[in-house]
Order: sequence, then C-alpha cells, then structure tokens
Amino acid sequence: MDSSTLLLLSIFTFLAIPALSANPCRPDSCDAALGVEVRFPFRLSNRQPARCGYPGFDLFCNAQNQTIISLPESGEFVVDHIDYTAQALFINDPDLCLPKRILNFTLSGSVFRGAYMREYTFLNCSSDYMDYTGTRYIPLFCLSGRNYTVLAVNSRSLGGGLPAACRSIANVSVPLQWGLSQFYWMDLREDLELVWSEPACWGCENQGGVCGYKGDSGREIGCYRRSRSGLPRSAKYGIIVGVGIPGLVCIIGLICYACGMVRAFNIQRRLNAGLPIAVSDQRPTIRSTSGLDQPTIESYPTTVLGESRRLPEPSEGTCPICLSDYQPKERLRSLPECNHYFHADCIDEWLKLNGTCPLCRNSPESSVATPSSSMSISSSSSSTTLDRH
Ligand SMILES: *[C@@H]1O[C@H](CO)[C@@H](O)[C@H](O)[C@H]1NC(C)=O
Ligand SMILES: *[C@@H]1O[C@H](CO)[C@@H](O)[C@H](O)[C@H]1NC(C)=O
Ligand SMILES: *[C@@H]1O[C@H](CO)[C@@H](O)[C@H](O)[C@H]1NC(C)=O
Ligand SMILES: *[C@@H]1O[C@H](CO)[C@@H](O)[C@H](O)[C@H]1NC(C)=O
Ligand SMILES: *[C@@H]1O[C@H](CO)[C@@H](O)[C@H](O)[C@H]1NC(C)=O
Repeated sequence: MDSSTLLLLSIFTFLAIPALSANPCRPDSCDAALGVEVRFPFRLSNRQPARCGYPGFDLFCNAQNQTIISLPESGEFVVDHIDYTAQALFINDPDLCLPKRILNFTLSGSVFRGAYMREYTFLNCSSDYMDYTGTRYIPLFCLSGRNYTVLAVNSRSLGGGLPAACRSIANVSVPLQWGLSQFYWMDLREDLELVWSEPACWGCENQGGVCGYKGDSGREIGCYRRSRSGLPRSAKYGIIVGVGIPGLVCIIGLICYACGMVRAFNIQRRLNAGLPIAVSDQRPTIRSTSGLDQPTIESYPTTVLGESRRLPEPSEGTCPICLSDYQPKERLRSLPECNHYFHADCIDEWLKLNGTCPLCRNSPESSVATPSSSMSISSSSSSTTLDRH
C-alpha cells in the first residue's frame, strides 16, 4: 500500500509542525457552550485586553450570557452570529421586539453599515383595518394593541397612498440580511445584518488565520495562525491522542474499504463482461417519496385572480416561489390546510419535488383524505373568479 504509507507520513508531518504562539489574544465568548466566538476585530471589553480588538468593535456579555453590542445611536443589540470571512454581524433585539427597535434605528456613529438596506413605512391603523389586510402589509404584533395594529410596508409599494384607517408613523431604512432580502414580506423579526470594511481581515480569515495587532503598539495589523496557537500543551497532546489516532484509524479503515470497493468493482465488471445480464431490469424503481403526483396536485383548489388582485385570505402580493407579482387573470393555486397562495405553475413544479407548503412546511397531502370545510373555496377544485372590489 504505497498511497497509505504516503498518507501516514504526511499526517505525521502535519502534526509535527510547531505551533505558532505569537498571537497574544485568545478567542472568548459569553457562553462557553452556545456563545458567539469573539475574536479580532471584536473583543469582549470587560474580558479581553484592549489590543485584542479594533476601535468600534467592543462587545460585552450581559447577565443572561448574551453577547451584546452597543450601537452609538440605536442602543444595545444581541449579537447572534459573526461571519468573520464575510465581515458581517447579525443582531437582534434582546427584548424580542425587533420592529420596535427598527423604528428608531440608525447606524450613524458606528463602524458598520447595512448589508442590504430597504425602506419601510410603518403604519398605525385602527384595528378594523385587519379585516381588509392587503397583500403587502406586515402586521407587527409586538407593536400592536387592542385598538390598533401597527403594520410595516415596503415604501416602494405604497405608491397609491395610505389606506384610510392608517396613518404613517415612520419611514425607516432597515438593514436586512442579504440572504433574506427577497423575503421581505415575512416579518421584521429576523436578524439585521451589518457589515464592516475596516479592518479587512477576510483574506486572513479565509486562510484559517485571525487578524491582530502586530507587536505591543502601533496600528499595524498582521495575520496570525488561529488553530492550536492558544491551546496549552496538554490540550495539544489531548487533541493528538483524542482526534489524531482515531482519525488515523478511520483513514486507514477508509483506505481499506476503498481498496475493497475497487476490487469488488473490478470483479463485478469482469463478471458483467462475461455474462451480459440486464441488471437495470432488476433494480427496484426509485421513486421520490417527497414529491406529489399530478392528480394530487390537480386536486388542490385554484383561483383566477380578479382585477383587484385581492387574495381571498390575508396573503401576499408576490409569489414566494417565483418572486413575481400576482397579476389579474393569473391562475393561483392554494394549499389546503394552510391557505397559502402561489402561482399555479410555480407551486405545481414545487409540489412535484417537495410535498410540503414552501411557506409553512405543512403537508397538504394529509388533508386530502378529509377535505376541510375551513376554506371557503376548497369545496371544489374548479376555478373561481374573484370579484372586483
Ligand atoms: C453564564 O455563564 C456562567 C459560566 O460561564 C454560568 O455560571 C452562569 O450560570 C451563566 N448564566 C446564565 C444566566 O446562563
Ligand atoms: C432612539 O434611541 C435613542 C438612543 O437609544 C434615544 O436616545 C431616543 O430617545 C430614541 N428615540 C425615540 C423616538 O424613541
Ligand atoms: C398607534 O395608535 C394608538 C392610538 O390609536 C396609540 O395608542 C399607539 O401608541 C400608537 N402606536 C404607535 C407605535 O405609534
Ligand atoms: C380601546 O377600546 C376599548 C374598548 O374596546 C376602549 O375602552 C378604549 O378607550 C379604547 N382605547 C383607545 C385608545 O381608543
Ligand atoms: C413617509 O413617506 C411617505 C411617502 O414618501 C409620506 O407620505 C409620509 O408622510 C412619511 N411618513 C413620515 C412619518 O414621515
């Protein structure tokens, strides 16, 4: 076994590299088990030395062991995640009412900017507004009361003016997450994403390193080796014994297994060459269990959108699958159980692959056997045209 000897040799060489311990800073976190790893350019101001962080990146731990950032003009937020390579920070409200914080949010004075800014208008509506909740309004329950409902709406889609029962209470710029920026209709509870450009450590992070100040003074930044540098000697031996040796055993096992597979494959090939049996005929048909078949999909109710484009339920103005707006006369399909609407063409393709509602993950299949009466138009699968309003 030439290749495995080579592999063994290279693994031992790898383990034998002396650990660089030049970086005086060690990562820390507010909660050993669940906490965000805090390292340069961030630092826990009450636990890590000043030169372990960059100005403007101070964090601290609160009494609940949450990692907190204090933004100069917007107050304190929980840091849920730091993506050091993307140079992005994901924050939320410690009191679980992010929309309230968004109402009074600005990044001015901080070293961060929004990853993807989107303008929202907040509306305060008398409660009977809920009866005709339209397509693009996001109810913000934690801001609403008995007699009124606070809604957010993408400012661009407010073109036609305010609904009569509502007054505009704020226009705000919200730093949404890149990945969620298409899903703006969901709600405003998802983490905000902030990014930074200085110090630019992504290259160092990308190579498995961690940035830090060079030496004891000055502003020059270097790239340190991250792994093993901060570990005590006993931990290093622990890793070698605990991970290295089982790892070697696994690798050797894998190599043996791979050799066995190759041999078996060769034997099989020779057998096949001698005896040309139609193997494919004997294979059981692999059928996707997750998707639905065409008759099942066809059995779900469809609706042709009227001129008003109003959906029968408080739903959205944009198809969540193909991300295009609903237009009059388009055929929508709704799923029993959850009453979510989609372009029929889009949801049909989805359901062939995936048997659950893409929004709520309910499986419509379970409700087919017992047609529910909760949906006004689910009694038949024929098309209904909605009235103009
Ligand atoms: C916070 O962490 C410390 C140890 O790191 C632990 O003793 C304490 O119970 C934790 N507090 C909470 C509220 O989880
Ligand atoms: C916005 O937040 C700042 C800082 O937390 C605070 O001083 C200010 O009063 C708040 N404004 C409103 C309208 O809540
Ligand atoms: C919305 O209006 C109601 C009164 O109609 C008021 O009590 C409430 O504070 C307002 N909410 C906000 C967030 O402005
Ligand atoms: C809210 O409604 C209750 C009764 O439904 C009423 O007593 C109260 O005055 C209302 N408050 C406001 C601010 O309109
Ligand atoms: C928000 O912007 C809209 C449209 O530009 C405007 O009509 C409205 O008065 C603004 N609301 C506030 C509270 O400034």
